Amino acid sequence: MPKIAHHISIPGLQLDAASKVPAYKQVYGHISAAILSKQIRAGQRMPSSRVLAESIGVSRNIILLAYEQLELEGYITGSVGKGSFVSEHLDNDLPAIKHKKEKIATAENTQHIAYDYPVSKMFMDRESSKAGKKPFQNPEPALDHFPFKVWAKCAYKVFRELEFSHLNYNDAQGYFPLREAIASYLRTNRAVNCEAGQIIITNGTQQGLNLIASVLVKKGQQFWMEDPGYINAHAVFTHAGANAIHIPAGHDGFDVDWAKKNHPDASLVYITPSHQFPLGGTMPVGKRLLLTDWAAKNKMWIVEDDYDNEFQYTSGPIPSLQGLDQYKRVLYLGTFSKVLFPGLRIGYLVLPDEGMVKAFAHAKAFADRQNSITDQMILHEFMSNGHFTIHLRKMRVLYKKRQDVLLALINQYGEDLIRAEKQPGGMHLIAWLREDINDSEMAAYLNNNGVTVLPVSAYAVKFKPKPGLLLGYTAFNDKQLTDGLLKMITLIKAKIVKV
Ligand SMILES: Cc1ncc(COP(=O)(O)O)c(C=O)c1O
Repeated sequence: MPKIAHHISIPGLQLDAASKVPAYKQVYGHISAAILSKQIRAGQRMPSSRVLAESIGVSRNIILLAYEQLELEGYITGSVGKGSFVSEHLDNDLPAIKHKKEKIATAENTQHIAYDYPVSKMFMDRESSKAGKKPFQNPEPALDHFPFKVWAKCAYKVFRELEFSHLNYNDAQGYFPLREAIASYLRTNRAVNCEAGQIIITNGTQQGLNLIASVLVKKGQQFWMEDPGYINAHAVFTHAGANAIHIPAGHDGFDVDWAKKNHPDASLVYITPSHQFPLGGTMPVGKRLLLTDWAAKNKMWIVEDDYDNEFQYTSGPIPSLQGLDQYKRVLYLGTFSKVLFPGLRIGYLVLPDEGMVKAFAHAKAFADRQNSITDQMILHEFMSNGHFTIHLRKMRVLYKKRQDVLLALINQYGEDLIRAEKQPGGMHLIAWLREDINDSEMAAYLNNNGVTVLPVSAYAVKFKPKPGLLLGYTAFNDKQLTDGLLKMITLIKAKIVKV
C-alpha cells in the first residue's frame, strides 16, 4: 500500500485584502508566528503550495514566495518531491514557548475555583515515561517484567475483530465478558461471592471510591477510617462532606470494639482487611465477623479495599471479607494497578444487590460514561487466555525473592537504626526507625538526597504511629535494592550525627 503523507492545516490563516502588507508576507508572518507559538510543531509536514493556495483563494505563486522566505529563515525545510516540513531543530526550547508556559503557570484565576482537591503530589507533574524510578518508590509493579508482547498480541486480535457496535457508547457498567472473567477470578481466588451482574468496571480504585462517595455519602455522615490508613480514601469521603472518625489500627487491622464503643453512629467504614495499608497485617476472622455483624445491625456500609492481596507469598491469598458477610453490607473494591500496571486505569467494584448496581451504573455513566471499550476487551482477552494467571504466578515468585533480598540487607546493615519484619505478602516493607528519629523529617531528607521513601506518619491523623519508612521493593532488582539500601543507611547515619 502506498504510504500516505499527512500534512497539517494552518490554523486561522486568512488574508487581509485591505492591508498594505503584501499577500506573501502575510502568509509568511502567519506561518512563522504559528511555528514560534508551537501551534505547528517541528517535523510536521506543510501543506503543498497548491493545496494551501486553493484553501485561501490566492495564486500559488504567493504561497511559493512565502515558503521560500520561511525556508530561507530556517522555519521550514523542503526537498523536491517530498514536500516541506517544519524544521526539526525548532524543538520545545523555543523562547516563545517558554514564555507561554510561564504565562500559564502564573495565571491567577484561583478565586473562581470552587474546590481545592486534596491530591497527593506524586500524581502531579508526572511524566511516567521520563520520571526516573528510584528505590524505594512506593508499591509499583515490576513493569519491566510485564509481558507487553503478549499484551500487544491480545490488542491486535481485539482490533482485528472489532465490530462497529463496539465503537459506539457501551454499557456503563462495563464490558460484559470482562465482568464475567473478573467474577470468575474473584470467586475462585478471592472467595468473593459475586456474579458479573454485580460488577461495575471503574477507572481504578480511585474512581470506585469517588462513585461510593457520590452515591452513598451524605454531608455530615460519620465514617470509620483506619489510622494509619489510606489517605486517598480519607480525602475522597471527607471531600464529599463526611466526617472521618479515626480508629486506631495495628497489624491486625483496626480496633472494632473501640470504634463500636466510642463512635457508634458511623454509617460507613473503609478498610483494607487482607493487607492493612500501610502497616501490612491481616484482620483476623473474629474481628471480621464482629464488624459484619455490627454493620448488619447498624446499617453500616463496609468498603473493602483489596488492593494487593494477590501477592501472598507464604499462603494462598487471604479470603475476602465480602465472602464472609451474609448481610450484603460490603462494597468490594479491586484494581489492576498492582497486578498489571497503574496506567491501565482499570479497577472494579463488586456491589451487594441489584438496586445498588443500578445506582452505581448511573453514577458511572454520569461521571465518564464508561471505561475505554478497547482496553476492557484487551484485558478480557489477556485474562481469558490464561496470561493473567501466568503473570501473577511469575510476579509472586519475583516479588517474594525481592522482599527476601531487601530483608536480608536490612538485617545485615540496619544496625540499631532500622529494622524490618518478614511480611507474608504485599509490595512494600516498613523499615521501623529507631524510636527517637522523626520519620517525616527523615523521609524529607532522604527524598532530597535521591532515596524515595514515605513516612508511616504521613498516613496517620490522630494516633501517632511508631516512626517508620515505607520501602517499595517490587519494582527493583537486587543491585538497585542493595545500592538504595546502602545509600539510605549512609544518609541516615550522616543525618543522625549532624543532629
Ligand atoms: C490502599 C490502596 N488502594 C488502592 C490503590 C490503587 O488505586 P488505583 O486503582 O486507583 O490505582 C492503592 C495504590 O497505591 C492503594 O495504596
